[in-house]
Amino acid sequence: MSKPMRVLFVCLGNICRSPLAEIIVHGQAEKKGISHQFIFASAGTGDWHVGGPADVRSVQTAAQHGLDLSQHRAQQITANKVNDWDWFVAMDDDNRTNLLAMGVPENRLFMMRQFETDSSTILDVPDPYYGGADGFEDAYAMLCNNADYMLDYLLQQND
Ligand code: 4NP
Repeated sequence: MSKPMRVLFVCLGNICRSPLAEIIVHGQAEKKGISHQFIFASAGTGDWHVGGPADVRSVQTAAQHGLDLSQHRAQQITANKVNDWDWFVAMDDDNRTNLLAMGVPENRLFMMRQFETDSSTILDVPDPYYGGADGFEDAYAMLCNNADYMLDYLLQQND
């Protein structure tokens, strides 16, 4: 059996979007019986919240959908940790730019929303940090809409 794929979800602060992405995709992988094929984690490109919990609004949104984010602790992705991961999933274009600047190879990096089946060309999960609770529910829906396709894509890439 091949080694598990190490997948890192990345946003700015690692307290709102990427922790939700991590727990949603992990939950989907468990439902499909394929979670043993992956190691999932999340990180921020910024260091402001390192060691702290997820934003309470993300914790609440997750809880409303039966997911427990209470144990999350924020971490930062930096250039010296790039080799710890096989795949990087950016929440928005700024995250993508920052990851490329750290030396993440372009062929190991994709956008969380690139799998949506509608014709939307908006590939960002908008940052809900400065908005209201709606933004978190919207982010949750966008993440769910892409989770299954993302897992299929990763399984196809496994070499
Ligand atoms: P996230 O949201 O990148 O989805 O975790 C943010 C969290 C904190 C900040 C910005 C975005 N901040 O500026 O502290």
